[in-house]
Amino acid sequence: MNTKTVVITGGTTGIGFACAQHLLANGYEVVITGKSEKNLSTALKRLDNKVTGFISDTSNLSDIDYLVKKVKNKFGKIDGLFINAGIFKSESLESTSEELFDETMNVNFKGAFFTVQKFIPIMNNPSSIVLTSSVVVFKAFSNTSVYTASKAALESVAKVFNIELASKGIRVNILAPGVTESDIQQKSGMNDEEIKNLLKHFSDTSPIGRILNPQDMAPILEFLISDKSLVLRNEKIIVDAETTM
Ligand SMILES: NC(=O)c1ccc[n+]([C@@H]2O[C@H](COP(=O)([O-])OP(=O)(O)OC[C@H]3O[C@@H](n4cnc5c(N)ncnc54)[C@H](OP(=O)(O)O)[C@@H]3O)[C@@H](O)[C@H]2O)c1
Repeated sequence: MNTKTVVITGGTTGIGFACAQHLLANGYEVVITGKSEKNLSTALKRLDNKVTGFISDTSNLSDIDYLVKKVKNKFGKIDGLFINAGIFKSESLESTSEELFDETMNVNFKGAFFTVQKFIPIMNNPSSIVLTSSVVVFKAFSNTSVYTASKAALESVAKVFNIELASKGIRVNILAPGVTESDIQQKSGMNDEEIKNLLKHFSDTSPIGRILNPQDMAPILEFLISDKSLVLRNEKIIVDAETTM
């Protein structure tokens, strides 16, 4: 029986939720976080209240402190941290506001950075951190410039984290999903027609003949979190069914 404890930021919907479901089914203790009370409560119900959930806005450092304290009180130390909370708003370079720039960087990069920093004292030796990036880092899509920058920034610190954390037995790897059908499209500001066209394009051009779904990410995340990948450091697994080929 697996008794490893894994924290998933942004585990209430989409990729984070599917990974929580998968880890739970494989015997892990799972903690999920989110910003919306409603989404957290729905997720906990769907997981039969078998995981622990906390409201914690990842862009707010006090919220991260609160989360670490609560996790420490309940579990002591953890074995895995999946930095997954993220937002995407579709906006051209010319119409990107300072507010959108700050919001995106604060959730996707600053929040991720400080979540890693603040969890270090309660990470076991050995333990694993996985950062959720995106294919946008190496393939350009219009209307994604700030989002792309936030994910590129996150990827750029992974190797530094690996050097600094190696002596503590903490390793850091990257999961880079391709376009995956989830709530993120509905929240992106794209209209229904644009979303339909996006998903159709990545379904029609995919070697697997369908759009990726959050469940596709789960076994790969489990591999990166588990000791099966103990010797991997700063590895990036692109999970896109080669749609960016
Ligand atoms: N779907 C894709 O095509 C795709 C492709 C590449 C990479 N990704 C990345 O994969 C990750 C998950 O995305 P997804 O597709 O699963 O989207 P999603 O269904 O919208 O899930 C996003 C999760 O992040 C949480 N979250 C957002 N802002 C937060 C905040 N300030 N504090 C705490 N939690 C917050 C959401 O919780 P609330 O609902 O409570 O806000 C939700 O649990 C993101 O980092 C995204 O950039 C997605």
